[in-house]
Amino acid sequence: MSDAQAVLNPLAQGLDLERRVEPFSMVILGAHGDLTKRKLLPALYALYIDGHLPMDFCIVGMSRTQMSDMEFRQAMKDSLKQFAPEIAFDENTWERFASGLYYLASNFTEPGSFDPLANLLDDLGKKHGCLGKHVFYLSTPPSLYVPIVQGLASSGLAHKDDAEKTPWPRIVVEKPFGRDLASAKELNKQIHEVFDERQVFRIDHYLGKETVQNIMVLRFANGIFEPLWNRDHIDHVQITNAETLGVEGRGAYYEEAGALRDMVQNHMMQLLSLVAMEPPISLGAEDIRDERFKVVKSIRPFDLDKLDASAVRGQYGPGWVVGQKVVGYREETRVNPESATETYVALKLFIDNWRWADVPFYVRSGKRLSKSVTEIAIHFRPAPHGLFLKALCPGPEKEMETVGPNVLVLQIQPDEGISLKFATKLPGTTTQLRWLSMDFRYGTSFGVRSPSAYERLILDCLIGDGSLFARTDAVESSWALLTPVLEKWKQETTPAFPNYPAGSWGPTAADVLIASTKHSWRRL
Ligand code: BG6
Repeated sequence: MSDAQAVLNPLAQGLDLERRVEPFSMVILGAHGDLTKRKLLPALYALYIDGHLPMDFCIVGMSRTQMSDMEFRQAMKDSLKQFAPEIAFDENTWERFASGLYYLASNFTEPGSFDPLANLLDDLGKKHGCLGKHVFYLSTPPSLYVPIVQGLASSGLAHKDDAEKTPWPRIVVEKPFGRDLASAKELNKQIHEVFDERQVFRIDHYLGKETVQNIMVLRFANGIFEPLWNRDHIDHVQITNAETLGVEGRGAYYEEAGALRDMVQNHMMQLLSLVAMEPPISLGAEDIRDERFKVVKSIRPFDLDKLDASAVRGQYGPGWVVGQKVVGYREETRVNPESATETYVALKLFIDNWRWADVPFYVRSGKRLSKSVTEIAIHFRPAPHGLFLKALCPGPEKEMETVGPNVLVLQIQPDEGISLKFATKLPGTTTQLRWLSMDFRYGTSFGVRSPSAYERLILDCLIGDGSLFARTDAVESSWALLTPVLEKWKQETTPAFPNYPAGSWGPTAADVLIASTKHSWRRL
């Protein structure tokens, strides 16, 4: 049997050999936290049962809590059943998977606290044939990132590797990646003292979503869209992330973050980059990341003297969401009763480049809104001559703006899919038109389970493919754009919060923002 066959999981029949994972050891730092239970462990198990993991691997959980390997395995099994019931569970398969799970308690910050890990990984490396192929997954509070990186380096576990293709060891860093430009730069500097950029995987789970990856496929695998994808044909773009959820017990974190840091700096910027980027010269990670970065770098800086015209913030008060009475943000647990933290942001952005000159990109993200939906809506310019204007819209001509024209909607969640709104003739002897929609839905078209964002991203990291991860330059550019907004908001007197009731569509100032360029938010 060749080495390659020896490491192949028998569940891997028919998988793309290019995307085969070598034996590895993954250390999850912060393994007692929610992310490990809800996302990481289920994703790893799903990858295992789908045959993506090699026969030999080990996963070491690390956190402050004292636990034995057996207790850790049991806790992971319980959370798998609780948080990922959609993943088929089979006792024998679980036992095989769980035999690669280990646990080590550590406080991460004391001198020498990574030496026991180094010893353990040495033993496990010999046992599982994965010496030196480490992935360190940082799922701890961000304040521990730098001490962990330094601790890994001083125990000899982390070092730079300039291997051409697949450098080891690797580090995965969860968001938030800094809280402003200065802290993001400092964090990058500290990480780069120990790891080469190609060893760093800054995770943004939006990039792992199936529908988000499909944006590039839609644009660049189809001949019909790209000729229209520019200022000559696109009037404006609306990117919406609306959540009915509030802060869900994360008040302490959210007080420090707010919507701009929590959603916009990362997830929304990624969506914007994918919609606006130029075609990459190849599907190589750096080529794709170059193009995403160029978009963020081209966004026009905010005019801080007229900030309200391009950035609006809001905070929810009490209200009703999906039939439930809910408290306002200031009444949430571990939230300051006079908090000035924003739970809603709306931005008007312009990308100053050849393709997008003067096309507004409206971005909104908010909690406790009327409906949970994430979508990108591409609003095309109207037909050049309103031949059918009266048939479409018997009222005054300006109403056309609110009923038309064509809109291509990339629905990220829920009901993942794509729809195109277009005008059609009503059956009958007179010429009357209606707007209808051509729809594609993932669920009905494919009928298979889409891998979770974490499955895709963990697999890519294990393969060494960084295309769906955030690169230093793009992260810093995004902070460079948004940090002045955060600073300006901080200097201003406390805003008149709350300024939207839970269950609404956000503050009226957001409607004013979009109306000032003669547009209106989509009714969702
Ligand atoms: C997280 C934010 O990154 O993304 C949360 O911290 C937010 O506040 C979540 O609710 C939204 O993710 P999704 O995948 O549910 O849209």
